[in-house]
Amino acid sequence: MQATPQYVSFDRAADYYDETRGFPPGVEQQAVNLFVEAGNLTNRSRVLEIGVGTGRIALPLAPKVETYIGLDISLAMMQRLRQKKGGEQITLIEGNAAHLPFATHSLDAVIAVHVFHLIPNYPDVLQEIARVLRPGAMLLHGWNDRGSENSLERTWRDAISHFHDVSRGISWEKRQAFLPEAGWRAIGPELRHLYVTERSPLTYVQHLRERKWSQTWRMTDEQIAEGIAAVEAFIADNHIDPTIPNQVEATFNVQAFLPPQ
Ligand SMILES: C[S@@+](CC[C@H](N)C(=O)[O-])C[C@H]1O[C@@H](n2cnc3c(N)ncnc32)[C@H](O)[C@@H]1O
Repeated sequence: MQATPQYVSFDRAADYYDETRGFPPGVEQQAVNLFVEAGNLTNRSRVLEIGVGTGRIALPLAPKVETYIGLDISLAMMQRLRQKKGGEQITLIEGNAAHLPFATHSLDAVIAVHVFHLIPNYPDVLQEIARVLRPGAMLLHGWNDRGSENSLERTWRDAISHFHDVSRGISWEKRQAFLPEAGWRAIGPELRHLYVTERSPLTYVQHLRERKWSQTWRMTDEQIAEGIAAVEAFIADNHIDPTIPNQVEATFNVQAFLPPQ
C-alpha cells in the first residue's frame, strides 16, 4: 500500500502570513499584471489558483477575470482571505491540489504561487492541472525571488543545506527547472517585476527563531540554532548593525507553461 503524502497546511501561519509575505503597497497590482500578460487573461477567463492562501494574488487578480476559484487545504488561510475580501468574487474550496474537483478541460488558466515546495506528490498535481486545463490553456507559475543576492538569506541557506529534508516538495534550487524537466513547455519569456523591501537583520533572525518560514517547521531546535549561529556570525564579521533595516531587492516572477504533449 502507498503511504499517504505528508501535506503542509499553513493553518499555523494564517495569523502572521500577510505580515511576513505581503507585497509592499502598490506592488501587488504590478505582480498580478504579470499573470494577465503571461496567461492572456481577460474578463471572460475562468481561473483556478491552487494554494490560494490568504489571497495575496487572488484578491487583486480576481476583478480582472470572469471566475476566480481558490483552492487550499488550509481553512484558516482562506478564512483570512474572507476577512480581507471586499467586493471581489472568489469561490473558495477546501481541497487538495492532487484531486481537483473540476471537469476535464474546463479551465482557462491554473495559477500556482509558492506551493510546489510543499507538495510531495507534485507529479500527481501536475497531472491534475494538465487534465483540467482546456486545450491551449496554461499553468501560470509565480514565485518571489527575494534575496538570492541577500547575504543573510544566502548564509542561512548555505548553513542548512546539509539538512536534506527541509522541504516536502520541490527544492528552492529546482523552482525554475522542475516544470521543463517534467515536460511542461515554457511559453513566452519569464516575466519579472522588480521591487524593494526593507527588513532589519534582527527581524530576520527573529523570524527564523520563531519558525515563521515553512522550511523551518520540520527542522530540529539544534538545526535552527546552527543556521542562526551562521547568520549571526555573518552579521558580526561584517560589522552590520542588526537593528538598522536594510533594503533588499526582490523580484516577483511569472512563467507560463503548456502541459506536456
Ligand atoms: C506559501 S502559501 C502561498 C499562498 C499564496 N499562493 C501566496 O502566494 O501568497 C502555500 C499555500 O498552499 C497551501 N497548500 C499546501 N499544500 C497544498 C495542497 N496539497 N493542496 C492545496 N493547497 C495546499 C497551504 O495551506 C498554503 O495556504
